Amino acid sequence: MTQENGDRAESLGLWPDDEQPIPLLTAEQPSLQPTDEGETSRSAVLTRTSVDGRATERRTAADFSPERMLRAPAGGRPSSGWRLAAFRLSGGLVRVAPSAAELRQRELIARVKTPIRGCRKIAFISRKGGVGKTSTCLLAGHTFAAYRGDRVVALDGNPDAGTLGHRVRRETTATVASLLADAGQIERYADIRGYTSQAPTRLEVIAADDDPRVTEALGDGEFRRAIHLLERHYNLVCLDTGTGVLESATRGILDAADQIVVVIAPSLDSARAASSTLDWLEANGYAHLVPGAVGVVNGVRTTNGLVDVDRVEEHFAGRCRTTVRVPWDAHLETGAEAVVEDLAPETRQAHLELAAAIAAGFTDRSERRE
Ligand SMILES: Nc1ncnc2c1ncn2[C@@H]1O[C@H](COP(=O)(O)OP(=O)(O)OP(=O)(O)O)[C@@H](O)[C@H]1O
Ligand SMILES: [Mg+2]
Repeated sequence: MTQENGDRAESLGLWPDDEQPIPLLTAEQPSLQPTDEGETSRSAVLTRTSVDGRATERRTAADFSPERMLRAPAGGRPSSGWRLAAFRLSGGLVRVAPSAAELRQRELIARVKTPIRGCRKIAFISRKGGVGKTSTCLLAGHTFAAYRGDRVVALDGNPDAGTLGHRVRRETTATVASLLADAGQIERYADIRGYTSQAPTRLEVIAADDDPRVTEALGDGEFRRAIHLLERHYNLVCLDTGTGVLESATRGILDAADQIVVVIAPSLDSARAASSTLDWLEANGYAHLVPGAVGVVNGVRTTNGLVDVDRVEEHFAGRCRTTVRVPWDAHLETGAEAVVEDLAPETRQAHLELAAAIAAGFTDRSERRE
């Protein structure tokens, strides 16, 4: 049996306990704005608001999660800091109310666990190479899989022999191409599991073939078929893409996608390429995906560079639903297998915020094509 939702994330040491109730959000109190507590300032989230400044957030049945609605169980304890120390030193007698930052953290976790009806497909895109599409797709997948109890898979949709499969410990030599070749024999989840590699977070990954001649032969029809197969067995499908939005494979992926994440490196050429990706989507029949997009400024260094990242973010916050900033991370720079525990806490936090930002779109049907 698998662990309960959230237990796995805790046992991996990713995020704190979530035993406290989360206050219901009000329109006057947008939830994902940065706090002034400083704990999450390096991965602040910008959320698009309506003209009167209120968060444009829908109320749905998904609000009724245990994190938001249940009172703390007797014996519940603070997750960190002096509140935890006071709790421990007093043998559990002193239990100080959670800080605003802790409540916000629990709100993020509640968001990540937003129930999905059917299957949700998220494409990670940019016309610029090397900006972190694969890394962002993988880590968003890890974050969702670590917290959610349902099935999460990441598929390498890069027609140029993508690298997603090299970022997890491989359990199989199967690839998207062999999955498609055997699609006729795949009926149950146990059948498809033979084509995936599963990470300790429970994320499953379907790798691309290392031979570009094989991956380039896969077009829109093949990817539509692969995604159709996956949506019968998984609740969340993260789709890594290549740089060519004109590529047939990418079109197949965009046709199937419910949401997109546009990845931006903190440089002028990358920001321009990401913005032109959105222009292209708007002009080529994918305009429905743009208002619900999440922009990720990936690989932001702590030292002040010449590029004003705030202004880059502002631009994308005006075009997309939300933007999230992910810091540069020494472990990610290796380009090796991504081990969540080896990421800096700020990077893990940023990916939690990213997953929460993506999940805020799970209940939004408006971005689906008519
Ligand atoms: N936040 C980060 N900090 C440090 N290194 C990063 C970060 N994000 C990605 N990288 C590294 O940058 C390199 C390129 O990243 P990645 O492969 O994810 O980009 P990509 O957009 O998928 O590239 P391609 O267009 O070739 O598919 C990799 O070595 C990756 O590990
Ligand atoms: Mg890639």
